[in-house]
Amino acid sequence: MSYENLIVEVADGIATISVNRPKALNALNEGVLSDLIAAFSAAATNPEVKGVLLTGAGDRAFVAGADIAAMKTMTPMEADTFCQLGHRCMRLIETFDKPVIAAVNGFALGGGCELALSCDFIYASKAAKFGLPEVNLGIFPGFGGTQRLMRLVGRGVAKEMVFTADILPAEDAKTIGLVNKIFEPDQLLSAAKETLKKIFAKGPVAVKLSKRVMNEGCELPLAAALALEQAQFPLVFASEDRVEGVSAFLEKRPAVFKGK
Ligand code: CAA
Repeated sequence: MSYENLIVEVADGIATISVNRPKALNALNEGVLSDLIAAFSAAATNPEVKGVLLTGAGDRAFVAGADIAAMKTMTPMEADTFCQLGHRCMRLIETFDKPVIAAVNGFALGGGCELALSCDFIYASKAAKFGLPEVNLGIFPGFGGTQRLMRLVGRGVAKEMVFTADILPAEDAKTIGLVNKIFEPDQLLSAAKETLKKIFAKGPVAVKLSKRVMNEGCELPLAAALALEQAQFPLVFASEDRVEGVSAFLEKRPAVFKGK
C-alpha cells in the first residue's frame, strides 16, 4: 500500500514508516495523521510485521510539529477536530501491540516530539533536536505533550520545556531521560533495527503483555498497577512460549518462540 505522506517498507519483520513531507519539514497536517493511522492499522494486522521503526524522511527533520500553516485559520471547533485526530494517532501508536521505536534524525518539535513520545522509546542521531515550542505561537502542546513528557521526564523538567519553548540538543534530551541512546546519523536506523531484532528473539507474548501492563500501569496508582501485574502474570503462563522458554533454558538450548 502506498501513502501520500509516508514511505513504508517492510523487511525482516520491521515496518519502517518514514514521514515524508519534505517541503514542510515533515509537519503533521490532517493528511499525514490520517496516513499514520492507516499505516499503523495495516501494520497491526500484517503478520509479517513484528515491530515498527518510525522516522522522518530526509536528514533535516523527524517531524517539525503540527502544520502551522494549517492551524492559521482554524476555528476552535476545527482545532478540536484536528486535536482529536492527533490524539487518535498518538494513542494508536502508544497502545500498538508490537514494539515501536522512534528514530529521531533531526527536528522533533511540537507535534513531532509528541509523536516520538507516543513510541515505546526514542533513539536519536547526534543531530536531533527536541522541544515543545508551542508557546512561541501562543498555543500549547495539543497532541499529548503536556501529559506524556511529564510522565517520562518529571513535572519540573517538562514544565520548563513547555514554558520556555527551549530546543534541546540530543545530548540534553538523553540527560533528562527523553532519549534512550544517541548514534551517528548514518548509524541510527541500523541501531534501531538491531534493537528491534533483539526484541523479536524474545518471547513475543511476554513482550506484548509486558508492554500492555507497563502502559496501563503508568496511568494507575502504584497499588493498582501492582495488582494489574499480579492479575496479568498468570496469563503469560498460558502461552506455548512460556513452555518453550522455560524448557529451552533447562535443556541449555536457544528458545524457538512461536508467539503463541
Ligand atoms: N508547520 C508547517 N511548516 C513548517 C513547520 C511546521 N511546523 N516547520 C517548518 N515548516 C516549513 C517552513 O515554513 C519552511 O517552509 P518554506 O520553505 O515554504 O518557507 C520549511 O518548512 C523549512 O523551514 P525553515 O525555513 O523554517 O527552516 P529552518 O532551518 O530555518 O528552521 C525550524 C527549522 C527551527 C524547525 C523551524 O522551521 C521552526 O521553528 N518550525 C516550527 C517548529 C514549531 O513551532 N513546531 C510546533 C508546531 S505547533 C504544534 O505542534 C501544536 C501541537 O502540539 C499539536
